[in-house]
Amino acid sequence: MNRVCEILNIQYPVIQGPMAWITSSELVAAVSNAGGLGVLGTSADFTQMVQGIPETVEEMRKTIRRTKELTDKPFGINVFPEAADPYGFSKATIELAKEEGVKVLVVAGNVSSDEIRSWKADGFAVIMREADPSVRGAKLAEEAGADIIVATGCDEGGCMPSLSTGTTAATALLADAVSIPVLAAGGIVNEKMAMAAKVVGAEGVFVGTRFILSEECRAADATKRDIMATHPDDFLVFTQANGASKWRTTPHRHGIEGVEANRNGNMNPPSGSFFYGMLQGDPDGGVNTVSNLASLIKSIDPCEKIVRELGAPFAE
Ligand SMILES: Cc1cc2nc3c(=O)[nH]c(=O)nc-3n(C[C@H](O)[C@H](O)[C@H](O)COP(=O)(O)O)c2cc1C
Repeated sequence: MNRVCEILNIQYPVIQGPMAWITSSELVAAVSNAGGLGVLGTSADFTQMVQGIPETVEEMRKTIRRTKELTDKPFGINVFPEAADPYGFSKATIELAKEEGVKVLVVAGNVSSDEIRSWKADGFAVIMREADPSVRGAKLAEEAGADIIVATGCDEGGCMPSLSTGTTAATALLADAVSIPVLAAGGIVNEKMAMAAKVVGAEGVFVGTRFILSEECRAADATKRDIMATHPDDFLVFTQANGASKWRTTPHRHGIEGVEANRNGNMNPPSGSFFYGMLQGDPDGGVNTVSNLASLIKSIDPCEKIVRELGAPFAE
């Protein structure tokens, strides 16, 4: 049996990457019901900004409970290491996951061995995704007990790695370095890309952009149309937070201004929010961020079809 499926108790090694604002109980349950693993991102199901940790946690509790009503299959939740969590939001989310019986943590950020050990002691399956994938980080995570490593290439949508390592290289390097399974992330938009990831050592895929263009994703229709209408040569990449964050966007206001600001030496232009750009469908009001391979997606499909297609290369 495929090791990712065995660890996560799923049918296809297709993990839907958490996406702030645009994941929902409906999307996550649809992916899990299709045999993959759905993962709740921050603000899943939220319809407005929520202030304060207790309020946010209670909203997220409702989201988790709605997801459990829609699926009896495993699903995960997105958390961040303590170093990237100054207000304790993620810590509170992990407590919530324990209370609500969510079994899988999808961790985005740099590895802390002690944290991984404590999550494992609490019985979670831990999927570890460094922002800038590194062989050292993957080995540390493996030693600390992480179950699965995600190799993210700069082909991805969302906040991209600051390094220019592509998905194929990242996957091949990490799969060579560790003995636990590695998932490829970044530009896995169709069966061919999943097959390519498998050839270089991936035992499954970790996918965001393809699931934005699913029937169950709650991104606005205008957002989906904007992604599908963008010519592959027209995506813009700009750097923000003084080099810490990189964004690839469809060509709208923040992208255009960001590129211009970078050119003039300003490495911290505003990035715009997914709330406006993706949930509300106003690409000039926020950002609409996707993989550089988004144009290879030709149709908006149900999650069931997407999971089967991306999982096909891993069938034994
Ligand atoms: C719109 C968008 C929002 C994202 N938000 C998050 C997030 O909140 N947390 C996180 O860990 N990853 C986030 N990601 C990254 C995804 O989980 C996943 O790693 C990535 O989408 C994989 O690359 P792909 O989009 O090329 O499939 C986001 C990606 C996108 C496209």
